[in-house]
Amino acid sequence: MTPDLFDEGSARLQAHQFRRVQQSASGDREASYGHVLQAGELDLTHGRILYLEDVNVSFDGFKAINNLSLDIAPGELRCIIGPNGAGKTTMMDIITGKTRPDSGQVFFGSTIDLLRHNEPEIAQLGIGRKFQKPTVFEHLTVWENLELALATAKHVKASMFFKLSGLQQDHLCEVLETIRLSQDLTRMAGLLSHGQKQWLEIGMLLMQDPKLLLLDEPVAGMTDQETERTAELFLSLKGKHSLMVVEHDMGFIRSIADMVTVLCDGAVLAQGSFDQVQADERVIDVYLGR
Ligand SMILES: Nc1ncnc2c1ncn2[C@@H]1O[C@H](COP(=O)(O)OP(=O)(O)OP(=O)(O)O)[C@@H](O)[C@H]1O
Ligand SMILES: [Mg+2]
Repeated sequence: MTPDLFDEGSARLQAHQFRRVQQSASGDREASYGHVLQAGELDLTHGRILYLEDVNVSFDGFKAINNLSLDIAPGELRCIIGPNGAGKTTMMDIITGKTRPDSGQVFFGSTIDLLRHNEPEIAQLGIGRKFQKPTVFEHLTVWENLELALATAKHVKASMFFKLSGLQQDHLCEVLETIRLSQDLTRMAGLLSHGQKQWLEIGMLLMQDPKLLLLDEPVAGMTDQETERTAELFLSLKGKHSLMVVEHDMGFIRSIADMVTVLCDGAVLAQGSFDQVQADERVIDVYLGR
């Protein structure tokens, strides 16, 4: 087992032990009328899975996030575009607890105040994040990588000795189908193509059944065919999960987009359908070019 795995496992175990914290971490908001929520349960009755309001972050006096407000509906596939340095990754850092904002609100559903939680707790709450570089275990097979993702999610200390139940095996096979690696389940992850590694990592997130998936530049470095397949993958995830996808590849964005949010200077510059934002003069000026 690699040190990363130990770290991951212990972080998840720690998150589990902190679970009781969630019971008092509802942001002091009441749950919706007529619906009794369990502690830590996601309240979607207001039609939003993610809600950011007036969020600000400065780094050494530089305002990377500037009164940012944005929300996402359950099951939505939201695309985020914008120039380098617009604050897209920083926004994901805030949602996942990696960066603390100076001010503002960040809610998961109507009642879970994400600013009261740390990174492992936020992962445990059901927010999965995919960074740009694939981070699969190269010396393990595709199957073992997915198995380990589930074991760490279930806080199994000795992950290598974790045995899957029948239901978990079914879930793993479903994920393999979704990420189109059923034919490669016994291959070493290190032998996969760059695109396949990215899909495997997405599969590892899916094993934990996240409610919200944050994907930062998922098709960077992929071939055209891999990019097309990734578009199909994301479209198949839409509805079952909520997705926030940051990308510079506009062909890819066009093929998956419902609603596109354009970030610039740490705030929302424009929002709408792909065609609307593509025709927006301000977006053309700061990002798309003429
Ligand atoms: N930890 C940090 N310390 C100092 N400055 C930071 C830090 N993180 C981000 N920044 C700055 O905040 C700004 C926003 O960066 P961010 O990485 O969020 O942009 P981005 O929209 O993801 O850009 P790209 O498209 O290039 O990935 C940049 O000017 C960046 O240099
Ligand atoms: Mg970025």
